[in-house]
Parts: sequence; structure tokens; C-alpha cells
Amino acid sequence: MQNSLIPLFRKVYDSSPEVLSQAPGRINIIGEHTDYNLGYVLPAALNLKNACLVSRRQDDKVRLWTENLKQKDEFSLHQIAFSEENKWVNYIRGIFWVLEEEGCDLQGIDGLIWGDIPLESGLSTSAALEVSMVHGLNTLFNLDFPPLKMVELARKAENEFVGVQCGIMDQFISVFGQENKAVFLDCETLDTKLVPFRLKEEGLQVVVYETGVRRELAGSEYNRRRSESSQALEILRKIGVKKYKDATQDILEKLKDEMDDAVFRRARHVISENARVKKAVRAMEKDDFNLLGDLLFRSHESLRDDYEVSCPELDLLYETGKKFPACYGARLTGAGFGGSGIALVKNQEVTAFKQELLENAKNKGFVQPRFYEVEVGEGAGSRFLDLEELR
Ligand code: GLA
Repeated sequence: MQNSLIPLFRKVYDSSPEVLSQAPGRINIIGEHTDYNLGYVLPAALNLKNACLVSRRQDDKVRLWTENLKQKDEFSLHQIAFSEENKWVNYIRGIFWVLEEEGCDLQGIDGLIWGDIPLESGLSTSAALEVSMVHGLNTLFNLDFPPLKMVELARKAENEFVGVQCGIMDQFISVFGQENKAVFLDCETLDTKLVPFRLKEEGLQVVVYETGVRRELAGSEYNRRRSESSQALEILRKIGVKKYKDATQDILEKLKDEMDDAVFRRARHVISENARVKKAVRAMEKDDFNLLGDLLFRSHESLRDDYEVSCPELDLLYETGKKFPACYGARLTGAGFGGSGIALVKNQEVTAFKQELLENAKNKGFVQPRFYEVEVGEGAGSRFLDLEELR
């Protein structure tokens, strides 16, 4: 598909594109709901991505075409409004909005958007859309923003324009991902460490299991989890624990009576998950996939019981994985409430594992899940097309 994007751009706009940009989706190996709690995460970029072709216009019009949805959008740089009807356009409008807020000297553009990340799957299509657009515009208009600034701009678009109070993980990994590596990120200091993910050498495969359940509750429930975990932190602060990274289960236990049960469990998840991320980094550095798998299972249990962001379809992945000898570990990935999960499975057993899950889902009357055997890919990039490509 990617090769036919230039001819497609010409067909839509009757002119040539100037810049190609792309940004990947992600899986989060472990460290869920810890980013906005300024803790640790361990995501990896996928070989699935969103691509944009853009060219400058002489006026202030932004014209867009999405090949996946076969829809267009058009707006003026001087009037960037939120669209109630069309969700996808807000991620792009949000990018133009933040760049205008930054005082950038922009012109209108013609833009073509295409991607192979399954929509609404929990694999971060929205961050990939935002990051690919900000990257492309950065190159097209010589804005000179360093990569971390692009992460911040994309997140600001999502927080303030789209209105989702997400943490920094998705935009960060979409910009900074590296092939065959996971990125250990401290979401407070933004210090990172690349962690090898030597799956092929071990004969393992990451299987993405997409439940097909739309994350409708996610918006409001996500924000509620944010507020519950910060309520717990307020109580921890009273005894001098300033951040989750400094808290321990022993300290938390002492404050149990001062917290509502749900608030207590939210904090217990954040503290235990931070500890699991650090252990997972050590496990991956030693290629200890048994330990890594065990941490994935335990992360799921905590997300299910303490953070309460799982659903029966995601629990099925965990339960099937637990009983399947060639599955090292499995858990929900991303915000939860539907979306996708990941499992670490031996290559030769992947087909049997998927079969088992399909049957179990059918017996339970669930929507038929979908599977993707993903690889760990590169972070975002953008460049001017050369004459050869445009010939
Ligand atoms: C979503 C958000 C991220 C993160 C995860 C949960 O993917 O966009 O910032 O909070 O949920 O870990």
C-alpha cells in the first residue's frame, strides 16, 4: 500500500506531495496506568504505523483525505474547531491547534493519511496519527522542533484539544521507539534506557489479541482512575511520601484505614506495577522470558482486581494463557476496558494458541477476536521526497 500512496495523493489533489512522515503504534510490555502517576513504563513501538503525505498550499486551507476511512476534512488555519461528528479529524486539527498556539508560521496543506494499525484497538492509533502529522509538519515547514518537543506537542493536542487526559507513554514511544528494543521510561524525569527484546533468538512471538470490544467506557473511567490514584497520593503525601516511585506496600498498608477501599487498591496497583516494570527490565536484559511472562500474568491480575480496568474478553486471554504451556505470559495492554492484550508464545504453538482462544471466545459468546503477530519497529520519521520517488 505504501508504494501506491504517491499516485493516490496525485489522484486526490492533482499535485505532488512534498514530505512523507510515519509514526508507529505500540504495545506496552508492562507498566500500565503508571505513566500519569509519574512512574515507570516499558513500551515498544510496532511495525504497524500511520503514514502522512503532505504538501504546502499558498492559502490557509487544510485539506485532508484518509484512505482508511475514505473521508475528507477541510478547515482554515484561522478557525480550528473541535468536530463532534468526526473523531479522527480532531487528532489532526489538534496538531494544527497546538502549532498555532506555539506561534508557528504555518500555511495550509494538502494531506493524505493512511495507516495499518487496527483502529480503536488499544494499539495507539491516535498517538501515531498525532505524531506522524506533527513530524511531517515539522519537516515541511522547517519548524526545527527536537523529538521530545514533538512528543509534548502531540500529547498537548490529545489532552487539551481532543480532551483525553492521557499520560506521556504513547506519544513518547511513537517518537522514540527502536527496532527490537523496548524503552524503559521514567515518566517523571523522562530518563530512558533501551532494553533488548530478543524474542526471535528465543523462538518467541508477541501475539496481539484484539478483543473487538470498543473502549466506550474508557474516556470517563480512565479519568476516574486518574483521580482515584491521585487521591491516594494526597494521603501518602501527608506522611511525607511525595511520589508513587518512593512508596512501598508497607507504607501503603499503614494508611489503609484512611482510604476508601477502591482508592487503596488503585494505589496498591500503581506501587506493585512500578516494581514489576523494574523487574521486567532485569528479566529482559537476561533473556529470562519465564520471569518476564510471570510478571505479565501478575500485572494482569493487578489490573483486573486492583485497578479494575479489565473486562471478561481480556480476562479470557489471561486465563487461556495460564493454562497453555507454550504461553509464557499474557496481559491486557494499554488503557484496558476492551481494546487489546498481548501474549508471549512459542513460535510453533502460536496457531494452536490462537485456535484455543477462538474456541474459548466462541463458547463464551464473545465477539470473534482478531490476532496480529507483531514485530518491534522503529520510531517516527519524516523526510522530503526526492525527485526519483516523484517521477
Ligand atoms: C492509554 C494512555 C496512556 C496510558 C495507558 C495506560 O494508552 O494513552 O497514556 O495511561 O492508557 O497505561
